[in-house]
Amino acid sequence: MSVLPWELLPDNASADNDGRLSVGGCDVLDLADEFGTPLFVYDEDHLRARCREAVAAFPDGVAYATKAFLCTAMARLAVEEGMDLDVSTGGEIHVALAAGVPAERLVFHGNNKSTRELANAVDEGVGRIVIDSMTEIDKVESVLLHRRATARVMLRVNPGIEAHTHDFLRTGATDSKFGVSIAGGVAAEAVDRIMRSPDLELVGLHAHVGSQVFEVSSFARAVEVISEFVAPIDVAELSIGGGLGVPYVEGETAPSITEWGAAIRSAAEAAGIRQQVTAEPGRAIVARSAITLYTAGTIKDIPGVRTYVSVDGGMSDNPRPVLYGSGYEVFLPRATTAQRDREIRLVGKHCESGDVIVWQGRVPSDLELGDILATPVTGAYGHSMGSNYNMVLRPPVVFVRDGEARLVVRRETYDDLMARDLGVAHALD
Ligand code: LLP
Repeated sequence: MSVLPWELLPDNASADNDGRLSVGGCDVLDLADEFGTPLFVYDEDHLRARCREAVAAFPDGVAYATKAFLCTAMARLAVEEGMDLDVSTGGEIHVALAAGVPAERLVFHGNNKSTRELANAVDEGVGRIVIDSMTEIDKVESVLLHRRATARVMLRVNPGIEAHTHDFLRTGATDSKFGVSIAGGVAAEAVDRIMRSPDLELVGLHAHVGSQVFEVSSFARAVEVISEFVAPIDVAELSIGGGLGVPYVEGETAPSITEWGAAIRSAAEAAGIRQQVTAEPGRAIVARSAITLYTAGTIKDIPGVRTYVSVDGGMSDNPRPVLYGSGYEVFLPRATTAQRDREIRLVGKHCESGDVIVWQGRVPSDLELGDILATPVTGAYGHSMGSNYNMVLRPPVVFVRDGEARLVVRRETYDDLMARDLGVAHALD
C-alpha cells in the first residue's frame, strides 16, 4: 500500500478535502475535460521558480537546455527569468528566435552541426558556438572565411569522468562521441588551433559529464580535472554543462539546483579556477513542473499474472521507460490521498509490447474505465522526444497559473499528419 508521494508533484499542486487535484489553481479533471487527453499540464510558476533558482545558483550565467522541453512559451519564459538558452540544432535555434529571444543569448551545441546550421548561426549572430571536434574547427573557419566574419566560440572538452547514470545518458567518459578529450592531448591541440585562428575568439571551455546524475561529486570531480587543464588558458568562462538528476519515483532524492550550484562553485574555488563558472540545466528546470493526463480505455486483468491498464498515449508522449527503463509513478487526480492498493502496469496504445509507461504502478482499487490517470515528473524529455508512431497525434501543452490555463501547444491534427505527405498529390498527376 502506498499513497502518492506528494513531493513528486509541481510546486503549486493542491488537493481539496476529497483529495481532488488542482495545479496552478486549475482543477486537473476540468483541464482534461476542456483540452482532452493525453495532455501535458505545466505549472508556470514552478518553471519560473526553478529558472530563478538557477540564476541565483550561478550568478556568472546559466543557460536552460532547451532539448528538455521547448516551445516558444518556454523559451520566452526562461529568458524572461534571466537564463540564456542552450540550443543544439538548427530547429532549436529556429524556435528560440521565433520566440523573440535575442540570438546573442543562445549557446549552440552539437557534435555534428551542419555547415548550413553553422552558417545560419553566424548570420543570426548566435552568442557562442560550442566547438565539439577538430572537424568542427575547420567547418566553422570555412563558414567564417566565406563571410569575412568572426565568431565567439567555446570548446567542449571531455574530462574522462564516468558519471553515475544510465549508459546512454553518460557523455563525459573518454569513449564518447562528444567533445575533445583532455587525455591524450587532443583538447590542448584544439585550444592551440582555435587560439591561432584569426577568426575564432575562444571565450570559454565547456564540459558536460552526463544527465540524470544524482551525485554532486561527479560534477566536483569534473571541475577538478578541468581546473588543471584550464589553468594556463586565457578564457573567461567555464561551463560545467547540465545533468543534475531529479527524483521520478517514491524514495529517490536529488540535490536541489541551489545545492548543485554551491557544490560546483566551491569545487571551482578549491581548485583555484579564475573563470566565470556557468551551467546549463534542462531536466532540473522542467521535469517536476509537469504532469501528463491520460484516460483509462482498457483494463485487462490476467488472473495470477497482472493487470494491464491501457491509456490513450504511450511511448509517443513518453519514450523514456522504453529507452532507458525509467520508472514513473501513476495516480488518480480525483483521489490523490487514497491508498494505492492495486498493482497495475500502465501501457500505451501503440502496437508493441514494449509500449510501457509505468512498469509497476499502484492505483486505488476503485480505478474504473474512463478514469483520468496522471503521471508526475513528465516535464523533461517527454514532449520533446515525442513521436507520431502509429500516426498517433502529439498531445497539447497547457501552462497553468493563478487559476488560468493557457494553451501553448495545440494538439496535433490529422491535417498536421498529412502536411508533409505528397504521395496522393503525385498519384493524381
Ligand atoms: N548540456 C548539454 C551539452 C547536454 O548534452 C545536455 C543533455 C544538457 C546540457 C542538459 O542536461 P540535463 O540537465 O537535462 O540533464 N533524453 C535523456 C536525456 C539526454 C540528455 C542529453 N543532453 C533522458 O530522457 O533522460
